[in-house]
Amino acid sequence: MTELSPVTQNPATQTQATKAPKAPTLPDAQTVTSVKHYTDRLFAFRVTRPASLRFRSGEFVMLGLMQTDEKSGKEKPLLRAYSIASPSWDDELEFYSIKVQDGPLTSRLQHIEVGDQIILRPKPVGTLVHDALLPGKRIWFFATGTGIAPFASLLRDPQTYEDYDEIILTHTCREAGELDYGRELIETIRSDEMLAELIGEGFHEKLKYYPTTTREESAKMGRITDLLNSGSVYKDLDVEPIKPETDRAMICGNLAFNLELKAMLEDMGLEEGANSDPRHYVVEKAFLD
Ligand SMILES: Cc1cc2nc3c(=O)[nH]c(=O)nc-3n(C[C@H](O)[C@H](O)[C@H](O)COP(=O)(O)OP(=O)(O)OC[C@H]3O[C@@H](n4cnc5c(N)ncnc54)[C@H](O)[C@@H]3O)c2cc1C
Ligand SMILES: NC(=O)c1ccc[n+]([C@@H]2O[C@H](COP(=O)([O-])OP(=O)(O)OC[C@H]3O[C@@H](n4cnc5c(N)ncnc54)[C@H](OP(=O)(O)O)[C@@H]3O)[C@@H](O)[C@H]2O)c1
Repeated sequence: MTELSPVTQNPATQTQATKAPKAPTLPDAQTVTSVKHYTDRLFAFRVTRPASLRFRSGEFVMLGLMQTDEKSGKEKPLLRAYSIASPSWDDELEFYSIKVQDGPLTSRLQHIEVGDQIILRPKPVGTLVHDALLPGKRIWFFATGTGIAPFASLLRDPQTYEDYDEIILTHTCREAGELDYGRELIETIRSDEMLAELIGEGFHEKLKYYPTTTREESAKMGRITDLLNSGSVYKDLDVEPIKPETDRAMICGNLAFNLELKAMLEDMGLEEGANSDPRHYVVEKAFLD
């Protein structure tokens, strides 16, 4: 697998044995530089970064693998939206991915290894960017599941610490093992000498991390929405309740979570922003449906 790309290993491609093998054309190909599996449903990987790619921390791109079209037999890209988890200053690109066993892309993507190639369209977009928010004192990053990915980028961006006095990451997952990527990220940030040099010693004291689980026991149990409603979050973190004068927020999770939290923030007086109209909070789906 290390020598062959997932494209050439596609079983559908291998059944074309009678035809003269064609060298697959890989538009926008990037090479995998590392892969780490966290659970049987989650993994992270890094790839080379296209020299031309400029992005704002928090944005997403389309990435994927080549697949053979059943009708025409031609190779074509199978792409999905992925938040860039690495910060904009990083030489490589990092992604944090689900493994859906019957998912068209991730049933195959989960098997990538160092040296394999993926397709990456260098056209970053997204709403979870600093430009979409008005200046504030404190920013909340609310994530469920792989929704933590854009915040892994923003939490390593010096601008986040320059713009805010306090940064709070909440991450809610079903099981404790699903929090490992986020925990590792926070540990890395707290001990990162380059970030300390870039941002200033002690920058990480601004960062508060609030991981919770809902279906397996962990230090803190419960949906973040319920913990906000009960006031438990504010008590645990020893912080003031959210208000539009001081607080900004970014939300990334499943649709129901996004909608529930959005309604809660609106009740607190916060308004939704956009690139063209910065306000108090922004939302993006971590996956469709
Ligand atoms: C703006 C945006 C950003 C995204 N960023 C990421 C990211 O950084 N990492 C990531 O893993 N996915 C991300 N996704 C989802 C991603 O685009 C794909 O859906 C995912 O890679 C699965 O692809 P698939 O072809 O295997 O299955 P799909 O056919 O795309 O999905 C099959 C089913 O799996 C479930 N599912 C899909 N993605 C997830 C997920 N991330 N977490 C839990 N359940 C899921 C859904 O129920 C979905 O209906 C993002 C989606 C959007 C819209
Ligand atoms: N995670 C797993 O172990 C697992 C295993 C097999 C299949 N799946 C399937 O994969 C899909 C995605 O699962 P996922 O666990 O990655 O993501 P998910 O269903 O979005 O759940 C992630 C976290 O968000 C919480 N949450 C969901 N809706 C919320 C809301 N409206 N408000 C506040 N919190 C909310 C969940 O709490 P609750 O637990 O209270 O819902 C959970 O802790 C689902 O279709 C699931 O059936 C998941």
